[in-house]
Amino acid sequence: MTSLFLKTLSGQQSKERPLWLMRQAGRYLAEYRAVRASEPDFISFCLNPEKAVEVTLQPIDRFGFDAAIIFSDILMVPWALGRNVKFITGEGPKLDQMETGDEITEVMIAEMALKLAPVATAITNCRAALAPNKALIGFAGAPWTIITYLLEGGSSRDFAVARQWMWENDVRFDRLLDLISHATADFLTLQAEAGADALMLFDSWASAVPAHLRKKVVIDPVNQIVGILRKRGIHTPLIGFPKGIGEGLVEYCNETDLQAVGIDHGVDMRWAAATLPLHLTLQGNLDPLSLISGGDAMTRAIDEILDAMDGRPHIFNLGHGITPQTPIDHVHDLLTRVRGKVS
Ligand code: CP3
Repeated sequence: MTSLFLKTLSGQQSKERPLWLMRQAGRYLAEYRAVRASEPDFISFCLNPEKAVEVTLQPIDRFGFDAAIIFSDILMVPWALGRNVKFITGEGPKLDQMETGDEITEVMIAEMALKLAPVATAITNCRAALAPNKALIGFAGAPWTIITYLLEGGSSRDFAVARQWMWENDVRFDRLLDLISHATADFLTLQAEAGADALMLFDSWASAVPAHLRKKVVIDPVNQIVGILRKRGIHTPLIGFPKGIGEGLVEYCNETDLQAVGIDHGVDMRWAAATLPLHLTLQGNLDPLSLISGGDAMTRAIDEILDAMDGRPHIFNLGHGITPQTPIDHVHDLLTRVRGKVS
């Protein structure tokens, strides 16, 4: 039995909309917080297949979402490349700030798969534990988003260091983009080969790329990664998520060979339905903060998205990750509303 999620991802429409939520395995769940407390070091947590499988399945067991996303992090790639990634409570991720770009070599990329092997184990075990009608998503950060962490040494408000680097270090920046694209393709290969049914590429900070550099920094790397995967015989469907690029979605959708695109909550879904190519499945885009207040305002926003997406393949999701403050009851309300809708 193929899942509703995979059917929709392949472009078929059904009466029901598949639904999952970005960051669905996370701190808004008490059962997640309990497992997290048993593993204070976040990287060790991600590299513990038993615990990773457990928390990946928690939101499926509780809510019956149509897809699970493997519990891991986009920063596992910088970690595997030796950048000393640490997650400090209340401060977010910290890593060694890169200076020249020469800190990362092809040898390090070749050695990455061994370090990330526990993620593959978690995926294989998770796939075995999931019901056949539930899909399992593997993921990675898109090269630009990973580069912002490498160059900033952590999260950033305006990405000033990374953007300046983009302007000043033409050859070095190109080399870095190429290396990280290869590393990303390798991480996705490992996940597809371990049994992921779909792959998602998070370009969470794509909005920081100036419009005229989008093709080179956001779009071309997607094509490079897809090209590497397909050449390796991997035909797992891919979802791109270029968060915050607004009108850039047109070029992103037209010039990449993806099966679906994640739409953030800054985009009008009616515009997306009317403008983006019909062969693409669209995913999104409820503002995660609407889940905090819930009620009628949330219901209206859900209906608006469902109506706007009538007539094309759509995977219901948020416009960004669910927040730790989200009340569980509001997630149940969201599910009831989406599942109750039959088009
Ligand atoms: O259900 C899931 O989606 C779980 C898997 C997952 C995590 N991170 C686990 C996680 C996924 C898909 C991610 C993606 C991720 N990680 C992104 C892209 C998506 C996005 O939100 O834009 C980014 C930018 C990161 C980097 C990252 N990881 C940051 C900035 C932080 C700290 C901020 C925070 O939310 O605490 C993390 C930590 C992290 N990754 C947590 C989880 C559940 C919270 C850490 C904890 O439990 O203490």
